[in-house]
Amino acid sequence: MTYRMIENAAEVATPTGHSALQGRAMGQLRLIPAGAVIWRDETILFVGTGQEAQDWLRKNEISPEEVDRMDASGKTVIPGFVDPHTHFVFGGYRDQEFNRRLQGASYMEIMEAGGGIAASTRATHAASERELYEAAWKRLDRMLDLGITTVEGKTGYGEDTETEDKMLRVMEALAADHKLDIALTYMGAHAVPPTFKGRTADYVDYLIREGLPMARGRAEFCDIFTERNVFELEESERLLIAARQMGFKLKMHADEIVPLGGAGLAARMGAISADHLLKASDEDLLAMREAGVIAVLLPLTAFSLREPYARGRFMIEQGLAVALGTDLNPGSCHSQSIPLMIALSTIYMGLTVEETLTALTLNAAAALDRAGRLGSLEEGKQADILILDCPNHGHLSYHFAMNLVETVIKRGVTVRG
Ligand code: NIG
Ligand code: FE
Repeated sequence: MTYRMIENAAEVATPTGHSALQGRAMGQLRLIPAGAVIWRDETILFVGTGQEAQDWLRKNEISPEEVDRMDASGKTVIPGFVDPHTHFVFGGYRDQEFNRRLQGASYMEIMEAGGGIAASTRATHAASERELYEAAWKRLDRMLDLGITTVEGKTGYGEDTETEDKMLRVMEALAADHKLDIALTYMGAHAVPPTFKGRTADYVDYLIREGLPMARGRAEFCDIFTERNVFELEESERLLIAARQMGFKLKMHADEIVPLGGAGLAARMGAISADHLLKASDEDLLAMREAGVIAVLLPLTAFSLREPYARGRFMIEQGLAVALGTDLNPGSCHSQSIPLMIALSTIYMGLTVEETLTALTLNAAAALDRAGRLGSLEEGKQADILILDCPNHGHLSYHFAMNLVETVIKRGVTVRG
């Protein structure tokens, strides 16, 4: 059988378009009752009602024997989730740090005392490539269970170029072997290693001299943790300019802990996204809007750090394009829970369920420069499709913190369910 088809869906729900939706347009989904989707190999050919699907098949002279049909009665069909911000390759765990934080220690205190990212760096250095690969493989499998069909992953737990190269090789191998699509980001500027303590400028020189050339042509994006006492604005700008010259697209961890102005820098640099933004100023957010920088919000991290959530509602009202990511990492956010993220987005950040769905699909794809191919159910897009065990998309928020994903179709092939 050449064609595959989902039919009788109680609802097909999808954003539409080939670029990020901004502001209130994020809430405008295409909703199709009694919906159907037809695809061939990796590519969607048709999305519409069951009746329209029959007409389409007839018009294209496709006989019933050529179509493999899946019945989705009572179910909702949406695009695969895209997670545009994770650190899914790392050695070791930091459960003790997490539990100490719950007793009152702060993330930055732990980091400044040699724990935090530095602890993961030591464990990542010690781990073999095989160990990193196997641990990351399990994390990707869990993502697929939750309906994530494309994920971004960052280096950044290597304090030297060799270990960063190792992390990149692990991600490259996973990209080749695992069903998920993986977008690669080089993040040598994640923390200043102990050997460069007090010499941040020298470390930036080192990254420009060795790190960026190592990752060039392999990682698509370059990211940096722009934060007080980590990489200040001036150093961040220097690295980002060098990265841009070498052909990297830019991302930033901006204004996560203190309001430093990272979001404004992302706008000036023409970054594809600025992420976190818990403390970003109004002015910088508006500059991001003008520059077309996508706001990637990571509410699971705010939840885990017990920080106030980013101002998602405000950003949408101001016309920004908002995406959501898990930020899965061993420290500030050891979770890839899409269901909890949807709950936080809708219950605490004031996004509607429709805006949340767009943020997790089309806008997340745009934050990875993949909105032309991913993030919506439309003719010509990649057949990354989820069937949810619920009668309409409203249950994504209503049946909160539950995994409603029943079937995952990745590049046209059923990989779960
Ligand atoms: O996105 N803020 C810096 N980077 C990560 C945390 C990494 C870690 O704690 O290991 C983040 O929150
Ligand atoms: Fe992060």
